[in-house]
Amino acid sequence: MQWIKLFDSEAEAKSQIPVTRSKAVVVAGKEICLAHTPAGLYAVENVCPHLGDALSRGTINYLNEIICPWHSYRFHLVTGEECKGRTRPLKRFPLETRADGVYVQLPD
Ligand code: FES
Repeated sequence: MQWIKLFDSEAEAKSQIPVTRSKAVVVAGKEICLAHTPAGLYAVENVCPHLGDALSRGTINYLNEIICPWHSYRFHLVTGEECKGRTRPLKRFPLETRADGVYVQLPD
């Protein structure tokens, strides 16, 4: 596992990703989706486990779920579970805010 710095501060992260929005970023050759909800920031895989659309193009609802733009499957950002269990859960990546920035933990 490796920790990789994404932003210089949490304020910078939240200014680049407004609340209820998400953004795709490539980190160490891996594309991830960063989502900003009223509950905080989350990092998950960007490829939908159903048929592969980009979750970063989806929307976020009041249940802290990200909704895929293609077939509207809903994935909880804390558990990764799809709300009706129609496909496997999302891979989630821990985020950590440190004194010098926001980091994501990715597998090697
Ligand atoms: S590709 Fe995401 S719900 Fe079908």
